Amino acid sequence: MSLYDAACKVRENAYAPYSDFKVGAALRSGSGAVYVGCNVENVAYPEGTCAEAGAIAAMVAAGDTTITELVVVADSPSPVPPCGGCRQKIAEFAAQDVQVTLCSLQGARLTVSVAELLPGAFGVGHMDQA
Ligand code: THU
Repeated sequence: MSLYDAACKVRENAYAPYSDFKVGAALRSGSGAVYVGCNVENVAYPEGTCAEAGAIAAMVAAGDTTITELVVVADSPSPVPPCGGCRQKIAEFAAQDVQVTLCSLQGARLTVSVAELLPGAFGVGHMDQA
């Protein structure tokens, strides 16, 4: 199954009663395994989690820590961009040149690199002492 198909499939399980905006994400890890996630909202709105965060959590729980490819899908007029927090979460586990494909169910697609998603990212090097 392609990452796009996996993201569409898991999107159907999204729990989004408040926004009514279902999102699915599928990533391939360094081991070749595919992990998926969907958004899971909460009546206490800030406690909700994004699809990308779910897929990353599944990857880490399975013992993988490297994203080699990521696809995000939503029912949106244009390809859905990851939120700021998810950009930082993706950058934690993906090299700068990893391709992230943002998709709408209607067929629009936009592929960007991790570097393009989060230019000037905060990284471990910023904590180095002089
Ligand atoms: N959402 C995601 O899951 N991923 C994104 O890339 C954008 C936004 C979710 C969060 C929330 O459940 C809903 O979409 C509306 O913001």
